[in-house]
Amino acid sequence: MTEILPNPAHTNDEPSAQRSSPDHWVPRFRPTERIAHWWTVVMVATALVTGLAMGEEAESGPMLNVHVASVVLIGVGVVVALVFGNTRAMLRSMRALFVFDRLDIAWSLGRLRHPFQRESHPAWGKFNTGQKVMAWLVSASMSLVIITGFQSWRSGGDMAGPHMAAAMATLALLGAHVFMALVNPSTRPALPGMVLGRVRRSWAATHHRGWLDDVEHDASSPRN
Ligand code: HEM
Ligand code: HEM
Repeated sequence: MTEILPNPAHTNDEPSAQRSSPDHWVPRFRPTERIAHWWTVVMVATALVTGLAMGEEAESGPMLNVHVASVVLIGVGVVVALVFGNTRAMLRSMRALFVFDRLDIAWSLGRLRHPFQRESHPAWGKFNTGQKVMAWLVSASMSLVIITGFQSWRSGGDMAGPHMAAAMATLALLGAHVFMALVNPSTRPALPGMVLGRVRRSWAATHHRGWLDDVEHDASSPRN
């Protein structure tokens, strides 16, 4: 099912031994996951811009309609991706992102016992503990944004404080996510995964070794 993709810089007829060369690409996110991700990014950005631009239109008006619609469309996008897209890939990734496993617990306990000890990367699955914690935090703060948004809506814009605070907390968390995706040198190589669907094998081998083992095991299993 899963294919190990050659580096486009190499020719198509490389010897098979090169399949495990550090320069190869491995598939990370399916089109459904990528479209759902970027759709969410556009909708969150729309909610933010319309929220900040709303001004006098806080009680009603087209800006408020677009503001609320963009949040509804986040949910619609996820449901459409789950129902009409690659349901299996979506569910597998969601499970990998939201479920803490024994490695997460062992790693967290290790950090608590030796907070300053630097260690090599454990054999993370598709997502590491930090990404999982971040996913729960963003989900919680987004829920708060939506709840406080409804309260503000029902009160005709009089409850702006809590909504603004929740939106800014979400933004701070997403700022950290974007920093990791675009700036931080050790996590930046994940970006092609969300843009093109694939990452370099050498990066995956260091940062998500457990996941890479699964991908390569799937690729070499007889039914592929
Ligand atoms: C991703 C989700 C959302 C984000 C990032 C967001 C962001 C914002 C921001 C930054 C403001 C300006 C706040 C201010 O100037 O004090 C705002 C205003 C507003 N938002 Fe949202 N919002 C979101 C979802 C919602 C939802 C789901 C609702 C209602 C169902 C809503 C209703 C309102 C209303 C009524 C205002 C104008 C009054 C106020 O400032 O509270 N928002 N939003
Ligand atoms: C310009 C903005 C953004 C960029 C460049 C970006 C980039 C990325 C990249 C490269 C990944 C893959 C990480 C990996 O392979 O491990 C990713 C994953 C993810 N992104 Fe974003 N993202 C952005 C905004 C957002 C927003 C606004 C949300 C949600 C509201 C979001 C939610 C997620 C989630 C849930 C994942 C999977 C878990 C994770 O890696 O943290 N992203 N993003």
